[in-house]
Amino acid sequence: MSRTPTVQADRRHDQDDYNQARALLRAGEASAGSHLLGEIARRTGDDALRSQCFYNLAEVLEELGQTEQAYQTWNALGCKPPGQRNKTDVMARATVMRVFEKHSLHLPPPDFPPRVQLEITNRCNLRCIMCTRNQMTRPLGDMAFETVRRAADECCQEPGCVVCLYFLGEPLLNRELERMAAYLDSVKDRPPIRTVFGIQTNGMLLTKDRARSLLSAGLRNYAFSVDGLEGDLERIRRGASYPVVERNILDLIEVGREMGINDLVVNISKLCDDPDAEEVQRFLERWEGKVDQVHLLGITRMEGNSFMAADGTIQPVRRRAHPSRRVYCGHGQRLLVYWNGDFGFCCGDINGRLELGNIHDRSIREVWNSPEIQRIRGKILAADYTGLSACDSCPHSRC
Ligand SMILES: C[S@@+](CC[C@H](N)C(=O)[O-])C[C@H]1O[C@@H](n2cnc3c(N)ncnc32)[C@H](O)[C@@H]1O
Ligand code: SF4
Repeated sequence: MSRTPTVQADRRHDQDDYNQARALLRAGEASAGSHLLGEIARRTGDDALRSQCFYNLAEVLEELGQTEQAYQTWNALGCKPPGQRNKTDVMARATVMRVFEKHSLHLPPPDFPPRVQLEITNRCNLRCIMCTRNQMTRPLGDMAFETVRRAADECCQEPGCVVCLYFLGEPLLNRELERMAAYLDSVKDRPPIRTVFGIQTNGMLLTKDRARSLLSAGLRNYAFSVDGLEGDLERIRRGASYPVVERNILDLIEVGREMGINDLVVNISKLCDDPDAEEVQRFLERWEGKVDQVHLLGITRMEGNSFMAADGTIQPVRRRAHPSRRVYCGHGQRLLVYWNGDFGFCCGDINGRLELGNIHDRSIREVWNSPEIQRIRGKILAADYTGLSACDSCPHSRC
């Protein structure tokens, strides 16, 4: 259908004003720029331009520290039904997921989890002293390919959703990982949606051949849990060897280069309590420039586990606090699928005690928005853990 000359002129005028508003924002004139954006959004008949105006207004709000208002503005765009979303709405949806994950449950949840964590196995080749897996009493097993396919089909429709192929176990032990990665790779790019997926691994089993086969299958995001240099790593990660892990990480990067892959992302993490400790500084220096990012993460202390103190000694975790001292834990921002397909809501729920059904009976969207999860979310926000059996053994639900 051809547009009438008046409509075309109005749209040109709106676009010119939009460009001017952007220029004002770039020049630091937040007030004048956002005023003009608001005016264009109110009057324009161009849906795509209206979304662009709101998207930019949300950015201004975020810069001013008004996170919740920014989030609500992006959410209004991102929550349009899939068929009605323009490119900016899709971008807003991805932004909502990112902001929700970064901030906390205090924000109203998006209608789909920003992160879906698939436990492709809960078997492991190591016995790390601090691992929450030490408290796991569930049966051991590997996730079936069909379960991953089901989750992937749903997640890959949702801009901004990140799919993590691990929970409590070593993902490289699942012999179908390549098949799972190849399937995710085949559905991840349904324009304008590009779903990110990746693994977190202890790195011990990532030989050059395995690296080659995983890269060929399309797996591009690798996070290695390293935790310490020679000596320290072996004490924390029982069964691991620092030279093997280091060589495997560097080999992966080398193989990626040989294969001409330019979107490989390799991050490493180290658990620590004191980022200024000397051993942490040595660790950072050793890895500087070798990988994309080094993350320093806090240790979750669960009764029955151990950890390495700043002086290098291994210490048992002390008894947990009295329930009256519990505070808002901030967890519950992602959805988990245990290896058998059961849903979980919190990474502290080691044994899957929240009964949320199975992915073969319920969709991810349905569970995320279910009354059960709304009830749990409400209780967490009120720091009221009574009746939440999964929180009984969790150290996060206390101060
Ligand atoms: C449970 S592991 C599973 C993936 C893989 N086996 C690995 O070690 O990377 C996932 C992440 O949880 C971290 N982790 C284990 N115990 C932890 C604890 N007590 N506190 C915080 N993070 C922990 C590990 O360091 C790892 O980065
Ligand atoms: S390798 Fe990972 S899952 Fe296994 S014990 Fe260590 S931290 Fe836990």
